[in-house]
Amino acid sequence: MNHIKLDISKVYGFVPEAEINKSESAANVALKKLYNKSGEGNDFLGWLDLPSKFPESLISDIEKTAAKLRSEIDLLVVVGIGGSYLGAKAIIDALSNNFAWMKTETAAPQIVFAGQNIGEDYISELLEVLDKKNYGIAVISKSGTTTEPALAFRILKNHLEKKVGKENAKKKIIAITDHSKGALRKMADIEGYKTFIIPDDTGGRFSVLTPVGLLPIAVAGFNIREFIKGAAEMEKSTSPEIPFSDNPASLYAATRNALYNKGKKIEILANFNSKLIYFSEWWKQLYGESEGKDGKGIYPASVNFTADLHSMGQYIQDGERHIFETVISVEKPASKFIIPKDNDDFDQLNYIAGKRVDEVNKMAELGTMLAHVDGGVPNIRISIDTISEFNLGQLVYFFEIACGISGYLLKVNPFNQPGVEAYKTNMFALLEKPGFEEETKKIKSRI
Ligand code: PA5
Repeated sequence: MNHIKLDISKVYGFVPEAEINKSESAANVALKKLYNKSGEGNDFLGWLDLPSKFPESLISDIEKTAAKLRSEIDLLVVVGIGGSYLGAKAIIDALSNNFAWMKTETAAPQIVFAGQNIGEDYISELLEVLDKKNYGIAVISKSGTTTEPALAFRILKNHLEKKVGKENAKKKIIAITDHSKGALRKMADIEGYKTFIIPDDTGGRFSVLTPVGLLPIAVAGFNIREFIKGAAEMEKSTSPEIPFSDNPASLYAATRNALYNKGKKIEILANFNSKLIYFSEWWKQLYGESEGKDGKGIYPASVNFTADLHSMGQYIQDGERHIFETVISVEKPASKFIIPKDNDDFDQLNYIAGKRVDEVNKMAELGTMLAHVDGGVPNIRISIDTISEFNLGQLVYFFEIACGISGYLLKVNPFNQPGVEAYKTNMFALLEKPGFEEETKKIKSRI
């Protein structure tokens, strides 16, 4: 059953419904291309039917490994960047208490991330914390050669080995990587780490429903079966058998494509729930890396409301009219809190006393949507009833398949990311990495 509701009615004032419906055949062709594996990047479609075909043996291996880690450590450092980091971070944050990092009584190990930057302060301050913790490491890299996680893992491995001894450290390290290639695979095999495989046909940003996302999510104590089940339900709801008008992924893809063709070049993903901040970060990688190429693509941005209404609100309301907004709305928050009455009423808020805090939030959401539409910002609304493993699984798969359709509508290969190499080449040249002598000479003449 589909628990996600998509409302595109607040786009019709900018692009008439009939015009969006004109994309029906193009969206159907794009969806079929994904299923027939006949489009560009067709060797990276492993994620497409993964939820419905997820091997039971792999789920239980992940669950058993997670349970063992949960009983042995009080903190897990997840090392990875991009698709090897953002999915797990997004789902764990969405399902966690906002202040989980401050809670000491929790049974689940704390999950922290490393290798997603090259900050000397970040890694040094993390090591200070780890000095006092009984911790394990999950190192995640599909290529096994990405500089940021490789560097962080070198430092962390060294720290853990010094702390507990080389042999004990081996039992506290899990590697998630390619089945045969790359430096991390080689190291894991030689050191004898427990490993999980990132399938060859699944790119980093589409890998949250593989061990890349599932192991950290399970260690954090969340139900990965429900997460996969939600994704599998969305797989059914977005398959080529579903007519365009009932297929939320095709409709979302066609709508954003129609808006792009009308000059709306920026999509801002907005949330009114702080648990979803990193969900937007995951979404930005998914759409940014998939669509931003060949001089084309909607720029994916994000805002966290109502906080950002007091910073970005002015621009959204009144700045250049090249924006549309997609709001993820959570119907029911996890908690219930009633606003108290105050006899003095100095703040003049007694008019909302007795209401839930969420009622105020919902009115802020509605008021914002109407204001932004009035200001020339088309609005797409995606709502889920609660933040749960099942609903997040639905949301993840919805955005993944819509991203594939969108990429083909835009006539780009949504499954490569050639542009991310440019900074790496320059960095290696500047660091005088062996093999980059020519690039080093060239770059030195420019600085
Ligand atoms: O989407 C992608 O494939 C990339 O952004 C990767 O996720 C990112 O570069 C990390 O790569 P790796 O897992 O090989 O270390």
